Amino acid sequence: MIRLGVNIDHVATIRNARGGTHPDPLAAAQCAIEAGADGITIHLREDRRHIRDDDLARIRAAITVPLNLEMAATEEMLAIALAAKPHAACIVPERRAEVTTEGGLNAAGQAETLRPIIARLREAGIRVSLFIDPDPAQIRAAADLGAPVIELHTGAYAEGHPGELARLRAAASLADQLGLEVHAGHGLDFANTPAVAAIPQIREVNIGHFLIGQAIFEGLPSVVARMKSLLAPARSAQNANPR
Ligand code: PXP
Repeated sequence: MIRLGVNIDHVATIRNARGGTHPDPLAAAQCAIEAGADGITIHLREDRRHIRDDDLARIRAAITVPLNLEMAATEEMLAIALAAKPHAACIVPERRAEVTTEGGLNAAGQAETLRPIIARLREAGIRVSLFIDPDPAQIRAAADLGAPVIELHTGAYAEGHPGELARLRAAASLADQLGLEVHAGHGLDFANTPAVAAIPQIREVNIGHFLIGQAIFEGLPSVVARMKSLLAPARSAQNANPR
């Protein structure tokens, strides 16, 4: 079995573009769950550019599938995670200026910061994963830090860099040998996901941007048709009963 975690951050991006409440990321989470999502992933960024604190609270309270909170390794985010108690926390590197999470966490270089954060999340019963590049040194560091799960950054693979699929396979195998549960994510789409899903050690993929973008094309015909179907009857009603 391989699980699909659906990342709904970009529903919040669209909502925030107008500052209102539509589209609501919680409604999107429920829609994804109805369609078969095994989990919901959200990233509460330091700058709150998409998901906000109240989204986390509402989604946490309402959904029944596992919630995976992506978070930077900061005291602020640790306090939020400990209070919200999501099923899982995925520690990601975060720079304010980046458009998305551009590379994996430097687990090897940030051991002093990560070790206590991982320990405190685990003590609270939160399953911790580290989002890292498919690099043996990072995988060994994750195991050494006591993280039970890693999420392999598939960005370079998704960009088509040669050799990246082989790197992912080798990384998944090494992580599994070290007793880590392996997840994967970033830049995955209909074309490039099957090869990742075929890697036997990978238990979960987390996919966001493509799904939300593709939902436009698969959903726009129906919403345009529905809006169109409202127009003529509204006008006929007005013509029949002019004010
Ligand atoms: N996994 C992690 C840890 C991420 O940071 C992201 C991006 O927010 C994803 C998965 C999903 O990536 P994408 O939006 O490209 O599908």
